[in-house]
Amino acid sequence: MQIDLTGKSILVTGASRGIGKAIARQLLASGAQVMAHYHRTPVSFDDLSKTEQSRLFTGQADLADAQQTIRLFDLANKQLGQLDVLINNAGIALASPLTEADEDFLQKWQATMAVNLQAVALLCRLAVWQWLKDSRPGIIINIASRAAFRGDTADYLAYAASKGGVVSLTRSLARAYGKQNIAAFTIAPGFVSTDMAADFIKDYGEDYVKNDIALPELTRPQDLAPLITLLASGLANHATGGTFDINAGSYVH
Ligand SMILES: NC(=O)c1ccc[n+]([C@@H]2O[C@H](COP(=O)([O-])OP(=O)(O)OC[C@H]3O[C@@H](n4cnc5c(N)ncnc54)[C@H](OP(=O)(O)O)[C@@H]3O)[C@@H](O)[C@H]2O)c1
Repeated sequence: MQIDLTGKSILVTGASRGIGKAIARQLLASGAQVMAHYHRTPVSFDDLSKTEQSRLFTGQADLADAQQTIRLFDLANKQLGQLDVLINNAGIALASPLTEADEDFLQKWQATMAVNLQAVALLCRLAVWQWLKDSRPGIIINIASRAAFRGDTADYLAYAASKGGVVSLTRSLARAYGKQNIAAFTIAPGFVSTDMAADFIKDYGEDYVKNDIALPELTRPQDLAPLITLLASGLANHATGGTFDINAGSYVH
């Protein structure tokens, strides 16, 4: 089986670093046209061929801001011509201990929900709406987390709760719009060696993370990209609604 994404247009949020960047890189290598979204870190790939470069577009938005999120979607449609696949990857993990002042605790919950859940819902809504209007098929791939199923540590309650919301949202979309040829998938990574995990490792130590997994090495961002590329191709649409664990055997359920 060959996976060729030529002719597919894909928006990847949070493609400036970590998992999103590795996903965007693989999609470009597989022939897709990609809008790589970023917030503060400009998107930069140092190893693209000329043809890959010609299929890369970038768009900036703070996904905590609904208006900026809507503008990003419009820009993606304009630059890509049409959207075939939406990959909601951008996310934040803010430690918010129960012992914090009320104001700080609430501020972190609100920020987490805005980026991790509300922006995902908004982009899904815009994409589904567009696909229904145009009578076109579409694919949504939402990056949730193992934390949605296993739970997280005491400091990351908001993070786990936001990812639980992403799982329910994705499953509901899959069931609601399957007949219109819209598929929706959840990816549930465990620890992946990115800036986000680095913060956690700083707090809890590398042994905590390594002892948790069945495989010898931590998952790297590029370990997620092949499965996501397959899902983006449409070849696995009969798995719609499904959740795919990529957690190095740290949580098998
Ligand atoms: N790493 C893990 O261990 C792990 C585990 C389970 C799930 N996940 C999930 O996987 C996804 C990617 O995580 P990662 O580890 O690759 O994270 P990361 O290295 O911290 O990168 C986060 C990405 O999200 C973007 N972003 C952050 N805040 C934003 C905002 N307010 N508006 C728009 N974009 C924003 C960042 O953009 P800038 O670079 O421009 O700031 C960056 O591209 C997240 O949804 C995360 O929850 C990660």
